[in-house]
Amino acid sequence: MHMRLRRSTPGLPAVAATLLLLVASLVGSAIPAAATRAAAAAATPAAPAAEPWWRHAVIYEIYPRSFQDSNGDGTGDLNGIAQRLDYLQQLGVDAIWIAPIYPSAQVDFGYDITDYDAVDPMFGTLADFDRLLGEARRRHIRVILDMVLNHTSDQHPWFLDAARSGDSRYHDFYVWTAGKLDAAGHRAPPNNWVSLFGGSAWEFVPAVGEFYYHRFYRQQPDLNWRNPEVERAMFAAMRFWLERGVAGFRLDAVTELFEDAKLRDAPPLGGTNAQGDPNLSDIYTKNLPEVHDVMRRLRAMMDTYAGERVLIGETYLANTTDLDAWYGGARHDELQLPMDTLVGLGNRLDADTFRRRLLESQTELHHSQPLLVFDNHDNVRSWDRFGDGVHDAQIARIVAALLLTAPATALLYQGQEIGQRTATPTRVEDVRDPLGIRGWPRDKGRDGERTPMQWDGSNAQAGFSTTPHTWLPVTADYRSVNVQSEAADPESLLNWYRRLIALRRNNRALREGRMVMLDTANASVLSYARVSTDGETVIVSLNMSPQPQTPSLDLAQAGLRSSHPRTLLSSPGPLPHGDAKGPVSLPPYAVWIAELR
Ligand code: GLC
Repeated sequence: MHMRLRRSTPGLPAVAATLLLLVASLVGSAIPAAATRAAAAAATPAAPAAEPWWRHAVIYEIYPRSFQDSNGDGTGDLNGIAQRLDYLQQLGVDAIWIAPIYPSAQVDFGYDITDYDAVDPMFGTLADFDRLLGEARRRHIRVILDMVLNHTSDQHPWFLDAARSGDSRYHDFYVWTAGKLDAAGHRAPPNNWVSLFGGSAWEFVPAVGEFYYHRFYRQQPDLNWRNPEVERAMFAAMRFWLERGVAGFRLDAVTELFEDAKLRDAPPLGGTNAQGDPNLSDIYTKNLPEVHDVMRRLRAMMDTYAGERVLIGETYLANTTDLDAWYGGARHDELQLPMDTLVGLGNRLDADTFRRRLLESQTELHHSQPLLVFDNHDNVRSWDRFGDGVHDAQIARIVAALLLTAPATALLYQGQEIGQRTATPTRVEDVRDPLGIRGWPRDKGRDGERTPMQWDGSNAQAGFSTTPHTWLPVTADYRSVNVQSEAADPESLLNWYRRLIALRRNNRALREGRMVMLDTANASVLSYARVSTDGETVIVSLNMSPQPQTPSLDLAQAGLRSSHPRTLLSSPGPLPHGDAKGPVSLPPYAVWIAELR
């Protein structure tokens, strides 16, 4: 989590299994027998042999604390996820990414791991996990786990031992320094680095007379990736889950694995951040070149497992060229899907910016597959970031249409499909995220985007739990904003998402077609065509303005066959002249998706 986005405005069948086993045997003895077994298990019948499954996938992020509570303790769990798999299948998702479920001190709600090879009792057991995997597989849904490589919990046995003595065999698993003596002769941190979660990034441990480095909370000591033992231990943890049959990992904070070996001071950028710390350049703490060697070795390890295991990266980067490096550039030998937060995680609904970013994703990634993401558990929801307070529902449909019709793998976050709002606490005493407690009121933390999933109106917990004491409160609007009532309303956002996902799955142009930008000088309307190799064409026009607009869709000029459009999906409602040859007029914040016959 490297930037917090705020509001911009007020307001597998037998044949496939055999094939995989064949591929595995061709790759040879590098693959452990368990891996081959798991490979067969991880495959699902849906994916055509030629294209890896993740290329056109819709991936759904689950924040397990807040998805579904099955045992009435107020916190979501693995059996709860299993109960909701039918819903996910109906929605049309291909894979779920589950935020960390491992034993954790829960300071950062799972992102501070104490054991990489187990399940936190709060979420269930390893047997529950295996059952979930099996139930998901039956529904052709793959399971991706979150993997935290940058740091462990300070309660992890490695760190407890490392902080006991400099002679510990685990001491060098972490980043230690003696620091320096300040003017008064006191031991001080070695440099000016600050934690992304506030305060100095260095914590002194008297027992060893040294400081350790933490990019996040002080309870999250950074691992020392210059120590080959660390890489061995973390790769072993990933193998543990790969052999159980997980489809891959989302790599948490992966840009942060290495820090400058000389510990040089970060150049100040002027001003202070939401935590009250000086704004600093991250040239010495982020995106250091060594990280790519680790990623290549990691990818090579993943590729020894059949079944197209995937690596997704939490890669907040400043520009598309930086993102390209995370795919391995022209070599394509690092992550398959570093997260393209460049397109989606802005906070202004701006046709020009989206157009530029989408074009870059087509031209600057060496033909790698972009991954689009608008929402996650760390940022104000897109509903609130892009909404203008008047057209929010319509704007949410534009976000959905862009996410699901652009040439990219799509990632959505639980609740996004029903228009859940960000419910930021109004009193500091209600805040659960330590980031918000420390940062109040400038940074109110991430509770707002983590409130429980709103399933129905059956009880005051929106069907999420049976206890009123949920770990975060259920948002008051659950009576109207919930899965059950939206499922019954053909015009709901949920049904809009379902239709878009189904269209994307069944339409060749939307599934695999190239993108041709249309009407490129239009500052209000983003228009593009998707064209399949055999010429099937779909055009998408998104009016990102509060005024009616008539885009000039000159198909011939774009080298496209000009013919009568047939509307596939539109919002709000049927559009005038949608099916006529000639200009289409788009009401404010309209979406028009049409095929050319
Ligand atoms: C990532 C996670 C975030 C967590 C941080 C530290 O940004 O998404 O929730 O706090 O890493 O692990």
